[in-house]
Amino acid sequence: MADTTVTMDKIVSLAKRRGFVFQSSEIYGGLSGAWDYGPQGIELKNRIAHFWWKEMTQLHDNIIGIDAAILMHPRVWEASGHVENFTDPLVDCKKCKTRFRADQIPPENLAARKCPECGGELTETRKFNLMFKTTLGPVEDESGLVYLRPETAQGIYVNFKNVQQSSRMKIPFGIAQIGKAFRNEIVTKNFIFRTCEFEQMEMQFFVKPGTDEEWFEYWRDQRWNYYRKLGIDMNKLRWHRHGPDELAHYAKDAYDIEFEFPMGFKELEGVHNRSNYDLSRHQQYSGKDLQYIDQDNGNERYIPFIIETSAGLTRQLLMLLCDAYEEQKVADKGNEDDWRTVLHFHPDVAPITAAVLPLMKKDGLAELAQDIRAELKEDFVTDYDQAGAIGRRYRRQDEIGTPFCVTIDYQSKEDGTVTVRDRDTMLQERLSRPHLSEYIRAKIKSYKRAERIS
Ligand code: GAP
Repeated sequence: MADTTVTMDKIVSLAKRRGFVFQSSEIYGGLSGAWDYGPQGIELKNRIAHFWWKEMTQLHDNIIGIDAAILMHPRVWEASGHVENFTDPLVDCKKCKTRFRADQIPPENLAARKCPECGGELTETRKFNLMFKTTLGPVEDESGLVYLRPETAQGIYVNFKNVQQSSRMKIPFGIAQIGKAFRNEIVTKNFIFRTCEFEQMEMQFFVKPGTDEEWFEYWRDQRWNYYRKLGIDMNKLRWHRHGPDELAHYAKDAYDIEFEFPMGFKELEGVHNRSNYDLSRHQQYSGKDLQYIDQDNGNERYIPFIIETSAGLTRQLLMLLCDAYEEQKVADKGNEDDWRTVLHFHPDVAPITAAVLPLMKKDGLAELAQDIRAELKEDFVTDYDQAGAIGRRYRRQDEIGTPFCVTIDYQSKEDGTVTVRDRDTMLQERLSRPHLSEYIRAKIKSYKRAERIS
């Protein structure tokens, strides 16, 4: 019996083989904590981003977006508390030179200052700030010090008044942003789970003090349902509430949504009640009045509380790969040892929506298939493949999670019909060419994860 357990090794191997994720600067031996997204990876990433953006902005009337710069005034990070608090406890082994996060090694090793890898002596624990520093301008000294942002959230807080006033927003309202963030992580194992350069999808929701707990519950609910819409196996998700020792310096309350990755349950996204910490601090450090004036309530002034939903885009991509991955026995034509690897992505996020495949290259089938592809690509991301046996071509598409394979055969030439193969059921339906786009659109809209066959 084949072992069909989903492991990180299998995910890493598929990701490279099929062009989802490559090691950064691989030909030079790679760079730890950095990864490149290949042709399938960028499509998947863009589609997750679009799915999240639609969910947060298009489907919520009171949320609008921004795109702030990665480089910000250095005072921002003093106000936010990152200069002082955004640290990890670090220890090094003097013998084998391995570097550890002190909170991630067995306590008995830490107490005995003994390396868990080689038994060598560990250094004293020291605080290590995770922010990357660089300099702005030609002189490399402290006067030009800037940081690569470690979270996108601060770009939203410093623009609170700009957005509120320019778009005449009334509280409660939210601001969404997707963008790169950088952290000099001490330990970057587990593929793209924890990297030094990554992308976040964050939304900051500004509310009246006293209503924050209600809105916190609302957003917990919304974010949980998002994963249901994305077609994730909900049995692999759970909540983790932060205990007093885990709460970030800004948080009044915080929950993580955790996903069961091959290496166990790990944080996927955080929902935080950040109180009025952020805007109070920016008001104090910038000297600018960041109070909201409630014109509907006798010009009442207050510093809003913030409910934050903070998801990792690249971490969500890893979750989707792990959740969608299946090695399935097909036993085609009575061959008991016939298996396929398939990615059961929600069709809304699959890198390619439809592949167009002529049964044969000859007899005008390839030309007809190209013509159909040209029509379909106006509406969908498509692929075209005429190389090799049709069964092999289906398997190639299964491996990158293409939900629909449109096959052009001899009957297509005669009566203008094509077949559409469903990735999950492998069943084929014949339909006439003018109905193709509408059929695919309807299938995407009605997609339910339950349609998976195992
Ligand atoms: N603004 C709040 C904030 O940044 P966080 O819990 O530090 O909170 C939020 O990060 C999310 O960003 C995490 O749940 C995770 O999905 C993602 N994330 C954080 N650090 C990451 C890293 N080094 N690599 C990949 N994703 C990361």
